[in-house]
Amino acid sequence: MPLDIAVIGTGHVGLITAGTLARVGHTVIGVDDDKGKIESLRAGRMPFFEAGLTELVTQEIASGRLRFTEDITEAVAKAEVAFICVGTPGRPTGEPNMLAVEGVATALGRAAIHDMVVVEKSTVPVQTADRIRAVLARTSPHAFHVASNPEFLREGRAVEDSLHPDRILVGADNAWAHGIMRRLYEPMIEAGARYFATDVSTAELAKHACNAFLALKISFANGLARVCEASGADVVDVADIMGSDPRIGRDFLDAGLGWGGSCFPKDLAAFRAQSERLGYRFGLLDEVVKINDEALTSTFNKIREALWNLEGKRVVLLGLAFKPGTDDVRESPALRLAQMLLDGGAIVLGVDPQAGPAAAARVEGLEVVDDAYAAADGADCLVVCTEWPVFATLDLVRLKGILTVPILVDGRNLFDATAAREAGFSYFPTGRPALP
Ligand code: UDX
Repeated sequence: MPLDIAVIGTGHVGLITAGTLARVGHTVIGVDDDKGKIESLRAGRMPFFEAGLTELVTQEIASGRLRFTEDITEAVAKAEVAFICVGTPGRPTGEPNMLAVEGVATALGRAAIHDMVVVEKSTVPVQTADRIRAVLARTSPHAFHVASNPEFLREGRAVEDSLHPDRILVGADNAWAHGIMRRLYEPMIEAGARYFATDVSTAELAKHACNAFLALKISFANGLARVCEASGADVVDVADIMGSDPRIGRDFLDAGLGWGGSCFPKDLAAFRAQSERLGYRFGLLDEVVKINDEALTSTFNKIREALWNLEGKRVVLLGLAFKPGTDDVRESPALRLAQMLLDGGAIVLGVDPQAGPAAAARVEGLEVVDDAYAAADGADCLVVCTEWPVFATLDLVRLKGILTVPILVDGRNLFDATAAREAGFSYFPTGRPALP
């Protein structure tokens, strides 16, 4: 039986959640206090790029199951479930800024005219539900059940992940709330998604644990890369061998420039801060962050070593997004590298199929060029920062002909070493033998 749902916040998580829940038959109202954004959404214009999102949202608006408003009172008038999908940006201390979540809880309490399930969808520190519950109790006479339902969406594949999840995690504090949440996800459960029903704290913590562990796997690979570079071993082969053990698994063992994005850096910092607040110093997480920083420094050092002096050298960064398939440059290792090179006096050009404008807006002095060949003309060094498949099809022989100095630093091990060598490049991969 379909439910009436309010989704508060129309960022990455909120918009995709709203579209998905409408697609499986629920009636959904998306709320945001940004008037311009609501008007754009009504007109079918998305605030960011995500594959399949425009189609999902416009089709569901057309189906009549999805609409948008700025008015939270209107949105919750009939809602049985309200999702909190607002941002939790990091503070300098690493703790997330929970003001927006508190604001939504207060607004929900004031707007509600009946009992409902309030769901934390944004990634939040363990025990946030207690805070939300307290705010709701202060602001409303109605009964609220706070549930935690973290998302596991990967940017670039978020719509697909959301429509066809392999697992759904719901933490709630009573059987009634669990019943409603199960009804909400019944179509996905029937389609084969594994469903985990837990208490609230377990669900909250599980999300941070998953992201921290994935970041740890990547940092392990990057630590290995440093040892491989010092010893002549090949990190890709080591990762393949490790990954062939089903207890380890091959995913997230790709060494490179390190992890970035809107989730890992922020979630790791929040998890460290919350563990500490609870009385446990999770030192392993400090090391995970440190190795990630070293991955970037190591690539920077390779470039500097290959170019001798950085001043005045033209360096082309292939890829600016924090990973392929997105225009998102938040915490992108490519932009951090661009800044380090600019600080060192290099002229930095960047090419990216999607993230060019966002990158140019964030890094002063970075010259964004549409075409890789145009960027490479007269340049001293090419650096692979993001492994967009389209870069793998670049004509290395042609590039070699137009670069002033044929140096290729492969921060994502995208190219085949022999092909790069045969094209005439000095090739510096990550954690694999260099061919200078
Ligand atoms: C991540 C989680 O995967 C997702 O479950 C969660 O909901 C949000 O955070 P996302 O940030 O979209 O998703 O990116 P992801 O694909 O996980 O990659 C994160 C970063 O790790 C990227 O910068 C990527 O380049 C890097 N990475 C990934 C590696 O350096 N090596 C790898 O082997 C895998």
